[in-house]
Amino acid sequence: MNDAVMTGGKGAATAAARPADPCCLVIFGASGDLTHRLLLPALYNLAVDGLLPRAFALIGVARTASSNEAFAADLEASLPKFATRNVDREAVKKVLGCVAYIQGEPDDDATYAKLARELERIERERGTKGNRLFYLATPPAGFAPIGCHLGQSGLARQENGAWRRVVIEKPFGTDLASAQALNRKLLGVLDEDQIFRIDHYLGKETVQNILVLRFANGLFEPIWNRHHIEHVQITVAESLTVERRGGYYDATGALRDMVPNHLLQLLSLIAMEPPSRFAADAVRAEKAQVLDAIQLSDRAEALRNAVRGQYGDGFVDNIPIEAYRKAPDVKPDSTTETYVALKLMIDNWRWANVPFYLRTGKALRAKQTEVAIKFKQAPVAMFRDMPVDRLAENFLVIGIQPKECIGLEFNAKIPGPSIKIRGVGMTFKYEDYFDAAPSTGYETLIYDCMIGDAILYPRADAIEAGWRVVQPFLDAWREAKDQGLAIYRAGGDGPKEADDLLNRDGRHWRPIT
Ligand code: BG6
Repeated sequence: MNDAVMTGGKGAATAAARPADPCCLVIFGASGDLTHRLLLPALYNLAVDGLLPRAFALIGVARTASSNEAFAADLEASLPKFATRNVDREAVKKVLGCVAYIQGEPDDDATYAKLARELERIERERGTKGNRLFYLATPPAGFAPIGCHLGQSGLARQENGAWRRVVIEKPFGTDLASAQALNRKLLGVLDEDQIFRIDHYLGKETVQNILVLRFANGLFEPIWNRHHIEHVQITVAESLTVERRGGYYDATGALRDMVPNHLLQLLSLIAMEPPSRFAADAVRAEKAQVLDAIQLSDRAEALRNAVRGQYGDGFVDNIPIEAYRKAPDVKPDSTTETYVALKLMIDNWRWANVPFYLRTGKALRAKQTEVAIKFKQAPVAMFRDMPVDRLAENFLVIGIQPKECIGLEFNAKIPGPSIKIRGVGMTFKYEDYFDAAPSTGYETLIYDCMIGDAILYPRADAIEAGWRVVQPFLDAWREAKDQGLAIYRAGGDGPKEADDLLNRDGRHWRPIT
C-alpha cells in the first residue's frame, strides 16, 4: 500500500508512490476472463498513474494456440471493452510494449522449458533484472501443479538479488484439508514470502479504510469492545444470479465461495487487535490470531447457528429471474446453497458474548456490502416520564459497496416544546472528499506484489484458520443433505430462517436497500 500524505480537502491525499520494480509478469491462464476483464485494465491503470515498472514485460501462458503477435493484438483489442478509464495509446504501449505467448499444458515440463527460454531472452532485452511475478489466473486445479513446476524447475528460485513471487487466485482450497494440502505443496517449493494469496476484497479502498478508521482515530478504539458493542452484522448481498458460472458454483456454494475469504477478511479487520506496526507481518499475525479465536461449532451448533438457502423464481429490479436449479450447468435437484447466514462468536477478552452475524447471498433485492456495528442501548429510564418508548439504535455503518461511506446513527431531539426523540444519521461519503479514478480493485494488489508488500495478502495460517471456522458447517450440511435448505424468492431479502437467526436473540438484520 502506498504511503499517503493527507493535507485535507477534496482530492488532497497525495500518494507518495514510486513505479514498481522492473519485472516480467507471467500470467498462467492468460486467455481467460480474469486476464481480460481485470488484470489488463488494472495494469493499464497502473501505467496511467506512473506506477507500472519502467522496465516491464508480459508473458501469457495458456493451452490455446496463439502467437506473441496474436496475443498482444487480442489484449489490445479487449482493453477498451473492460478499461475503467479512457484508453490512451501511450499508456497502452507501456503495458503491451513487450508481450510474449507460450502455449502449454500446466502439468508438462516442456511448458516450463519454453518459459525459461522466453524469460531469459526477455530479461536480457528488456532489462527486467530477473524479477518475475507469476500470476496463477487458472482454474484452481492448476494451482498446485503450476506452483510445483515453478519451484522444481528453478524458475521461481530467488537468486542474484532478483525476486520471484507467485500470486494464487481464489478459491484457495475447497475445505480445510485441501487448503492445508495446497499450502504444504506450495511451501515445499516456495517460501511463504514468495506466495501471494489474493482476495480481491482487500483491494477495495473501503475495506482497506477499516484499518485507518479503527487505528488512525482516537475515537473508536476505546469503545471497540464487548463493553460497548452489542453485536456486529456483516452483509454481502448480491442482486446478481449465478449467471453462466453454474458449473463452478454448483460444486462450490455460497459458503465456500464467499465466507472463508471475503467475509472472514472483513470480520478479521473489524475484530483484530491493534497491530504493533502498519507492516505486513504485524497486521497478518493479528488477523490470523482473531480468526483462530472464533469458536468452532460442533454439528448441532453448526446446524443451529447457520442458515442456508437457495433462490427460487422471482424478480430482481422487475426483471424475471429463474430459480437457481434452472440455471445452465446446475443440477435440477441441486442442494447447493446460494445464500448463507451464520452466527459466530469470538472467544477472546475483546469480543466475548458479542455475536458476529454474517450473511451473503445471490439474487437478493440489491447489491449491498456493509459492516454494521451496533452499540449497546442507552438506558431509557431517564426518559420514562416523556413520550419516549423506544430509542433508535446506535449503529456505526461502514458501507463498502456500492455506497462507499461511513455513517453513524444516533438519537436527537425533535425541535419543539416537549422531548420527542428521533433516530438521525451523519454520513461521510468518499465521493465528497476524494476524487478517486475508477479502478478494478486489482491495482493496489498487483502493485503491492511488485514492490513486495504483503500486507493485503493473507498468510497460510489465516487461510487455514478461515477454513477451520467454515468446516463444521460444511460437514453438518453434507450430512443433513437437503434438510434445512430454505428456498427464497429471487429479489427478496433471503430466507425467513435468516431473520429467525437474529430474532431469537432479540435482534434483526438491517434492511437491504
Ligand atoms: C467472487 C465470487 O469472489 O466475489 C463471486 O466468486 C462474487 O461469486 C464476487 O460474485 C463478489 O465480488 P464483489 O467485488 O462484486 O462483491
